[in-house]
Amino acid sequence: MVPDAALQQPPPAPAPGGLPPAPLAALPGLPVLPGRLASEPPGWTQEVDVVVVGSGIAGLTAALECRGLGTVLVVTKDVVAAGSTPWAQGGIASVQGEGDTVEQHVEDTLVAGAGLCDEAAVRVLVSEGPAEVATLIARGAEFDRDAAGALELTREGGHHRRRIAHAGGDATGAEIERALVSAVKADPGIEIVEHALVLDLIPAETGPDEPAAVAGVTLHVMGEGSRGGVGAVHARAVVLATGGIGQIYAVTTNPPVATGDGVAAALRAGAVLRDLEFIQFHPTVLFMGAGARGQLPLVSEAVRGEGGLLVNGAGERFMVGQHDLAELAPRDVVAKAIMKEMAREGSDHVFVDGRALGEETWRVRFPTILNSCRQLGLDPAVDLIPVAPACHYFCGGVRTDLDGATSLGGLYACGEVASSGVHGANRLASNSLLEGLVFARRIAARLLADPPPRRRPAVDDRPAGLVDAAVVPAVQQVMSRHAGGLRDAAGLVACLDELAGLAGQPAGAGVLSSWEATNLVTVATAVAASALLREESRGAHWRDDHEGRRPGWQGHLEVRADPAAGLVHHYVPTEQEQP
Ligand code: SIN
Repeated sequence: MVPDAALQQPPPAPAPGGLPPAPLAALPGLPVLPGRLASEPPGWTQEVDVVVVGSGIAGLTAALECRGLGTVLVVTKDVVAAGSTPWAQGGIASVQGEGDTVEQHVEDTLVAGAGLCDEAAVRVLVSEGPAEVATLIARGAEFDRDAAGALELTREGGHHRRRIAHAGGDATGAEIERALVSAVKADPGIEIVEHALVLDLIPAETGPDEPAAVAGVTLHVMGEGSRGGVGAVHARAVVLATGGIGQIYAVTTNPPVATGDGVAAALRAGAVLRDLEFIQFHPTVLFMGAGARGQLPLVSEAVRGEGGLLVNGAGERFMVGQHDLAELAPRDVVAKAIMKEMAREGSDHVFVDGRALGEETWRVRFPTILNSCRQLGLDPAVDLIPVAPACHYFCGGVRTDLDGATSLGGLYACGEVASSGVHGANRLASNSLLEGLVFARRIAARLLADPPPRRRPAVDDRPAGLVDAAVVPAVQQVMSRHAGGLRDAAGLVACLDELAGLAGQPAGAGVLSSWEATNLVTVATAVAASALLREESRGAHWRDDHEGRRPGWQGHLEVRADPAAGLVHHYVPTEQEQP
C-alpha cells in the first residue's frame, strides 16, 4: 500500500525556480522487484567483442558499424524482423528538402519536446541525420522517389516542412528492416541468434574507484545443441537496442515483443533511467471496438500530412483554433484534443476523414493502412476511419550521453530503449528511426576510438525472482486505466498498489512468459512511480490534478534501482533552475 502521507507530504515537487531536493524521498510501498530474473545457471559461454541486443534499425545499424571492433553477435528475442521497426509507417525525418534547414528541424524537435529536450543531442541528431540516411540508402534501403529521382517527402505532426522520406508508401520501416537484415546477413563477421531472450546484464569486477560496469549478458536461447537453454555471452561492450515497452498497456501500436526487456535489465543492473513518465500516445490508432486488446494498426500522421482531417461524431473538425498547425499540431496536442473530444461526446473514438485523398492516393501512398481499413470493411476513399489514441512510443529510457554510453561501464544504448535527450517530453514524429541510425553509429565511433577493456564477470548476488505470467492482462489494464494518456495522483497510487499485489504473485518456473511478465511489472512500476512524482502536465505526461507546465519542473526525473532502498528518484535541475 502506498500511504497517503507519501503524497500529502510528497517526495516534493521542486519549488518554483529553486533547487529541488535530490534525491527525492523514496516512495514507500512500491512493489518489491526482483534483483535478477530467476533461471537455471548458464550452461554455455561465448566470448565476443560486442553483443548487440535487438534487431531493429538501431541494433542492426550498431552491428554493421561495430564490425571494426572485432566479433559482433546480435541476439534477438524472436525472429530478426519481429520488432517495432518494420511497423513504422510515416517515415524518417531529415533535412533534405529545398528550403528546409537544420535550424528549422531543431526548432520543430524542441517545440514538440515541450521544453525537455537536450538541445545538444537534438543538434547532433538533426545535423548528422542526412548523412546517416544517405548511408542507409547506400546499404540498400529504397525510398519513394518522384519522377526526377528526388526523395518524395511528406509532413507529419509538428513539422513545419516536408522532410519525411518514406518507402513503399506507408511501409517505410519494413523496407528499412529488409535492407538492414540483408546487409547484416551478408556480413560474415556478424552472427545473429534468434529466439534468444536476454535475461540480465552480467555485473563486472571493477576497481575500487571505478564506476559499476557490465561484462556481458545472460540469455535463454530456444534451441537444441551446444547453444540452447540458458547461457552467458561475455563481451567488451553490450549495446542495448531492445526497443519499446508498449505491452505494459492494454492497447498499443507496438508488437507483442515490446515488453521492455532492455529497460528492465538495465534497471536491475543499476543503470540510471530517465524521463520514464513520458509515454507517447499516438492520436490516430485504428479503433477496432471497445474490447480490442494488444497491438492495433496505426493510421499514420502522414495521412493528415497529405490532407486528412480529424472530425468528431457529428462530422465537425475540432482541431481548428486549438493550434496553428490544426490537425498537424505536435502529437501530444492532438492526442489530448482527441481525448477531450471523446470525453465531451461520450464516445470512444473520433474519425480521420481521408476521403479527399482519393482512391489512387490510398492505393499507392497508403497501401498498409488501406489494407487495415479493408479488414474492418471500410474504404477510406468513401468512409470515415474510426480512430482513438493508443500507446505508441517510450520517450524516456536508459540515460545515455551523446555517444550512447550509459551510467554503467561497457553498457551502451540506442533507439527506443535509450534516453539520449532528443525526444524530451514528446517525440517529434519520424525522429525515432533517425535517432536509431545516428546514435548507433556514434556508439560504434566511440567504441572504435576508445575500445572498452574486457572485464571479468563478478559474483552476481542479486536476489532472483519471477512473476507469474497470468498477471499480465491485469498489469495492462491497470496501467491503461490509471497511467495512460490521462493521470492523477489517486489513480497512480491505486495503480502502484495493484502492481505491488501483482508483483507478489510468484511464478514456478523460468519460461519466456514469466520472464516477460517480470519485465512488464518492473517497467510498469517504474513508469507509474515517475508519473506520480512529476506533478505537472508536460508533453506526453498529462496530470489531471496538475494542469499545465510548472516552473521548477524543466529538469529530468532520473531513477535507479538501489539494492537496499528500491527505486530511488533524483530530480536533475536545468542550469536555469540552479540557484
Ligand atoms: C506515424 O506514421 O504516424 C508514426 C510515425 C512515428 O511514430 O514517428
